[in-house]
Amino acid sequence: MMYCLKYLRYLIQSKHRRGFGIHSPFVFHLVTDVIEEKLPYYKYSLIEKVRSLLLKTSKTVKVEDFGTGKSGVRKISDIVKCSSKSRDYAQVLFRLVNFYKAQDILELGTSFGLTTMYLAAPNSKSNVVTIEGSLEIAKYAKLSFDHAGFKNIKLCEGNIDHCLPSVLKTFKKLDFVFFDANHKRDALMNYFNACFEKSHDKTVFVIDDIYWSNDMENAWKEIKKDPRVRVTIDMFSFGIVLFDSELQKENYILRFFPNLRIHLLDALNINY
Ligand SMILES: C[S@@+](CC[C@H](N)C(=O)[O-])C[C@H]1O[C@@H](n2cnc3c(N)ncnc32)[C@H](O)[C@@H]1O
Repeated sequence: MMYCLKYLRYLIQSKHRRGFGIHSPFVFHLVTDVIEEKLPYYKYSLIEKVRSLLLKTSKTVKVEDFGTGKSGVRKISDIVKCSSKSRDYAQVLFRLVNFYKAQDILELGTSFGLTTMYLAAPNSKSNVVTIEGSLEIAKYAKLSFDHAGFKNIKLCEGNIDHCLPSVLKTFKKLDFVFFDANHKRDALMNYFNACFEKSHDKTVFVIDDIYWSNDMENAWKEIKKDPRVRVTIDMFSFGIVLFDSELQKENYILRFFPNLRIHLLDALNINY
């Protein structure tokens, strides 16, 4: 199915706007007071200034292919537009990390590090590890972290398929994982299962681009059915996964932002 048609289907199926129809008091609170919260945090503007700089530059980078077919030399601004999570979704991740007081955080797929900074911003003492395989992109991500003064981010350069086991050994537990790298079912499920080993009841997983391909959609369907998973919240752009055994098993489809601009960008698979 075409991506924009998938988006239309999501709009029709999503009924839980502003907590409507959510019976679980916890999930209602999570949706209305965390996911949909609109207060500006002062760190947002710092990170958005880095995004603006990256969007303005005419520089190019060599991109390595990890299964997307998009290798070669590309403009930094084009990659930021297409690959980095947009402001509104990255800020949801910030609020989730903040709400859960996540301390040990892992991101698979750094790109230029914009979302990494949102994950690291709630607590300067948290431990954020992010993995990126394209070395030139990783170099710019490091510059961004230094430029914005983030000292709690460790960037691992390399193919996740090879370095994930050793990275996971450095964690006693994982509180929050953002899966945004290899968009293939098998790779995603391998990463999911490996990270699950370090998870606990209050761990949050966020899976990006759950409708990017049929393969990803199938992986998302599997995750929803997984008996280890209690609650999923489908926001189209990504899916949130909770393992909290106090919650009843339920899959929600949340209509996020009744904003025409966001709807159009989502439907066209553009992020900025
Ligand atoms: C969608 S981008 C990440 C965007 C970033 N999370 C953000 O929101 O700003 C995916 C990144 O994952 C990297 N990647 C994909 N597969 C990988 C792999 N197997 N190992 C290492 N990096 C990988 C790509 O090079 C790309 O930079």
